[in-house]
Amino acid sequence: MVKDYISINKKAYDILASEYKEKYKNNEGANYFYKILEDFVLKRKKESAIKMLEIGPGTGTLLKIFENHNIKTTAVELSENMATLAKQTSPNSVIINDNILNVKFLNNQFDFILAMAVIHNFPENDLIKLLKKIKLWLKEDGYFILDTTNNKITESGYFEKEDYDTRVERYRRKWKKEDLSEFLSKQGFEIDELVNYKDPTSGKEWLIYALKKTNNML
Ligand SMILES: C[S@@+](CC[C@H](N)C(=O)[O-])C[C@H]1O[C@@H](n2cnc3c(N)ncnc32)[C@H](O)[C@@H]1O
Repeated sequence: MVKDYISINKKAYDILASEYKEKYKNNEGANYFYKILEDFVLKRKKESAIKMLEIGPGTGTLLKIFENHNIKTTAVELSENMATLAKQTSPNSVIINDNILNVKFLNNQFDFILAMAVIHNFPENDLIKLLKKIKLWLKEDGYFILDTTNNKITESGYFEKEDYDTRVERYRRKWKKEDLSEFLSKQGFEIDELVNYKDPTSGKEWLIYALKKTNNML
């Protein structure tokens, strides 16, 4: 893991941005998945004025969904091209174009932090740093919601994104469900809900976690 994975990922998502947007326009699998996430948030939403941070919003589809529920949405997106598309899709969100690891927010300010299809872009050491930040930024009764694919074994490396016409390489840490669940609890998160979802369009199995922070670090 000596290569500069952040620059490689930034370049990859800059190249993929327009294809990404087309792919998810009328994508049955993705739409169903957005519905699961919308329900995941709405059933945990206590007050009316709430704040959400989305890490790596891509083209901004989820931000738009939550904007429509009057949620105050902020997002941090590494790729400039993705950030531009997200701004067009969700004009009422604050979009910061930066690496989330370089960004500072005040403590205890978000009711929800979302990282959809994002944690696999980080090696374990940087993911630990990111989770520490998330714990600080999240309110005591807040939720961290993430998803990633379930894999036969946990492994890391530079992989081409297989389901895109443009073949670009980016860093990926592929997690196996049991390893990820144990890792998250070691970092001080408890699982409030875990849903397995097989995307009928891509055939991939996704793990969707709703997490609460705890003071127990194993
Ligand atoms: C697989 S895409 C997922 C996009 C969207 N969340 C979705 O589920 O469709 C991963 C996104 O995370 C962004 N990302 C990756 N590393 C990041 C980082 N260090 N800081 C902020 N965003 C990052 C990428 O640029 C990309 O837009």
